[in-house]
Amino acid sequence: PVLVIDYGAQYAQLIARRVREARVYSEIVPHTMPVEQMLEKEPAAIILSGGPASVYADSAPGTDPALFDTGVPVLGICYGFQSMAQALGGTVAQTGTREYGGTVVEVTEGAGSGELLAGSPERQTVWMSHGDAVEAAPQGFEVLATSEGSPVAAFEDRRRRLFGMQWHPEVKHSVLGQEALERFLYDGAGLAPEWTPGNVIAEQVEAIRAAVGNDRVICGLSGGVDSSVAAALVQKAVGDQLTCVFVDHGLLRAGEAEQVEQDFVAATGVNLKVVDASETFLAALAGVSDPETKRKIIGREFIRTFEQAAREVVAEAETEGTTAGGEVKFLVQGTLYPDVVESGGGEGAANIKSHHNVGGLPEDLQFRLIEPLRTLFKDEVRAVGLELGVPESIVWRQPFPGPGLGIRIIGEVTAERLEVLRAADAIAREELTRAGLDQEIWQCPVVLLADVRSVGVQGDGRTYGHPIVLRPVSSEDAMTADWTRLPYDVLATISNRITNTVPEVNRVTLDVTSKPPGTIEWE
Ligand code: XMP
Repeated sequence: PVLVIDYGAQYAQLIARRVREARVYSEIVPHTMPVEQMLEKEPAAIILSGGPASVYADSAPGTDPALFDTGVPVLGICYGFQSMAQALGGTVAQTGTREYGGTVVEVTEGAGSGELLAGSPERQTVWMSHGDAVEAAPQGFEVLATSEGSPVAAFEDRRRRLFGMQWHPEVKHSVLGQEALERFLYDGAGLAPEWTPGNVIAEQVEAIRAAVGNDRVICGLSGGVDSSVAAALVQKAVGDQLTCVFVDHGLLRAGEAEQVEQDFVAATGVNLKVVDASETFLAALAGVSDPETKRKIIGREFIRTFEQAAREVVAEAETEGTTAGGEVKFLVQGTLYPDVVESGGGEGAANIKSHHNVGGLPEDLQFRLIEPLRTLFKDEVRAVGLELGVPESIVWRQPFPGPGLGIRIIGEVTAERLEVLRAADAIAREELTRAGLDQEIWQCPVVLLADVRSVGVQGDGRTYGHPIVLRPVSSEDAMTADWTRLPYDVLATISNRITNTVPEVNRVTLDVTSKPPGTIEWE
């Protein structure tokens, strides 16, 4: 792999994604990992990420100079560039000119015939974010570019295959950023663009078969992208040894249970055990309107139901005896790479690790985890899903919270209110899809203010109904979000259709709050 050494902040994940977009496999490792351990991973190249520190702060993460004697091509970016310069005897200092945002760099004469900036125009706009700068390049390095605040904005030592740049090539605002990364990967490190997310399929199928043997596997399906693609992959590996459990808590949107029960099963052929627990959930939610209490109840009931279903699957496997396969020993989880990186990495053979208490499952139900998507980013999971034939309606599904419509009814959750919200939500989704806006918005919660009433006039009569709130948001990762400026005509159509066809609703309103201060969901 190409190793991306993480010096903190958010940069490493983005770099790893861009390297994969260049069709070269990449992994993130912490800067605290000793060089020998990095070498055990047989890196084809190493990229040092940016980071929030100043290289001469006492607590600054350093770079072991030994890294540069290993013969592995290295690219330093921003902090990584400065750290590299310092480790090799260059000078890093505070020049007094901070550069932040779009910055013009001048490519040094002749540098365009080097490697990193081969064929670059003389001036280009790049994205910078730094206070310190490299003042003098280490011996053996050629200076490739300069900017107002960076006497040395990029350098390379072609003989030793060492490269660096002050700017962030992984950020789209660096106009030729991806090109520079590719020059490093293809020319600097001599790598070929061969990797695709689909490669994971063959690899994982083999690893899962080897790990599972004749035993059985269980998987909880939610209807979302991650659990569906994980299940489809495990199904491809071990077929009928897998049983999926789908808990229908009755808080799903129109058509979602059918997507799992019919479309997903038809496309993948998985063994599916559906548990219709909607009445249990409704009973448990009766009389409750506090958001946190609702969430706790839904979470608790979900675990209870899943646990019961899991016990049944285990019991069925036991009564069928060994002819039909062994014990149920494994549980599939749709864990993605960002979660793995954020929880400090950790790997196991075949992406399978022991686990005692999974998501609240009791100690006496012990499973080992299979996490076949642990190395993938979300967009890569979608690509794998498409390749496995998972229905597009699931592959492209926008985020939907586990507690479902239960936290989109403001007030007590009842069967009637769920029907009203489902009808309004279906209209909003249909119109957004028709307008081609699905990929543009992150998600659009539709919320029923069940405890609020307002006066309206519909037909000849006065009505006293409930308002619906549309909450369309744009976001990169749900941590922050802005309200989406939907076209007025789309809003008008949604509003007209809802108020004309959902009798209990006589008003449609638009939430124009960003996050922060508002969260995406209302509860
Ligand atoms: P908030 O409302 O916190 O939501 O801005 C951020 C993102 O998370 C989703 N969300 C959840 N997803 N279980 C989930 O699986 C939950 O309990 C949950 N609550 C919120 C929300 O839809 C948004 O995408």
